[in-house]
Amino acid sequence: MNILVTGGAGFIGTNFIRHARAVKPDWRIVNLDALTYAGNPANFEDLAPKQAERYRFIRGDIGNASLIEQIFSEESLEGIIHFAAESHVDRSILGPEKFLETNIMGTFRLLDKSLKFWKTIGRPDGFRFLHISTDEVYGSLGPNGYFTENTPYDPSSPYSASKAASDHFVNAYFRTYDLPTIITNCSNNYGPYQFPEKLIPLMILNILEEKPLPLYGDGKNVRDWLYVIDHCDGLIKVFEEGKPGETYNIGGGEERQNIEIVHLLCDLMDKRLGRSGRKSSRGLIHFVTDRPGHDFRYAIDSTKIQQELGWSPNHRFEEALEATVDWYMNHMGWVNSVRSGEYRKWIELNYESRNKLAK
Ligand code: NAD
Ligand code: TYD
Repeated sequence: MNILVTGGAGFIGTNFIRHARAVKPDWRIVNLDALTYAGNPANFEDLAPKQAERYRFIRGDIGNASLIEQIFSEESLEGIIHFAAESHVDRSILGPEKFLETNIMGTFRLLDKSLKFWKTIGRPDGFRFLHISTDEVYGSLGPNGYFTENTPYDPSSPYSASKAASDHFVNAYFRTYDLPTIITNCSNNYGPYQFPEKLIPLMILNILEEKPLPLYGDGKNVRDWLYVIDHCDGLIKVFEEGKPGETYNIGGGEERQNIEIVHLLCDLMDKRLGRSGRKSSRGLIHFVTDRPGHDFRYAIDSTKIQQELGWSPNHRFEEALEATVDWYMNHMGWVNSVRSGEYRKWIELNYESRNKLAK
């Protein structure tokens, strides 16, 4: 298999490429990534020299139509696994435009060039387009119920609205032009290589550095957490065995309130750092102004992928969270390399006003 992975230098893309190299030795992967603040080519430094013929990195924008056309002309691609996106809700609130450019226009350009290429290969099943999306397109749940593949779209943030729009275009390319597309809508991922602007890595590093732990609102919002490697396994299954035109929801079945996660992280890290009593990290928790339009709860019903493709998560939350904490504590070189000047600017922008209004 010769596959184009977009956004392969980001969190899930990196884990996907590293995992696929281990479990799919016959795959060759071309990684197209613009290397925004969230992408880091150093994630592959230890792999690159060994098997260069199985991996090619191209720095570029998915919205660059002529570059996409050039890649199709150079590589006999059998599929695209499309991760590239602007992915952080808080950034989308403070600056939505980039989200429309990458998530909507970028996806459209990839679809359009894929269609042109697919028409030339003469085998309808010789190519497939897997679009990686999020459960956030379904909006917010109350205390009960689950998102299924039939839940109507109801996005709340500019991020989820842009992902919803891209999903609609992917489906339109299947229904209108028969392009073999598949969509996955996944719950919150955690694990190694996640950029420390998202809840879990941000809290790990703030605990380590004894900085305030900013919980939005009352900290009781609920997310359904999935270990990133379980997500990658699900994506390989869907890519290989999923049915074109279908959507598959992928979830961890591990619902937690944000405050429960932060408590768990404080306790796990206090054990490692020898903190207790008045020094306990729970004392760093700080309730700050809520995120506007903050979705209360996400929870996925994964019955379809479990029954049709035989996928289910292999990792339990508490164990995999512990492994994630250890990964960050043992990879401070990686952490420091991604926390550039741009990162510090973001932290100031997002948290300064929230902290001023802290309860
Ligand atoms: P990320 O922000 O860590 O990585 C995104 C990557 O895309 C980066 O390497 C970045 O450089 C690249 N990129 C951004 N704009 C680009 C462009 N215009 N052209 C080429 N590359 C570009 O994101 P992630 O958490 O790895 O998420 C990957 C995908 O999975 C996204 O589509 C996201 O919506 C989806 N998803 C994420 C989660 C999650 O919990 N992280 C859950 C469900 C779905
Ligand atoms: P996040 O990791 O940004 O993922 P998403 O918004 O896509 O679910 O946030 C996860 C949850 O944690 C969400 O309810 C917002 C909350 N949160 C905080 O309370 N404090 C923070 O500093 C961050 C980044 C998130």
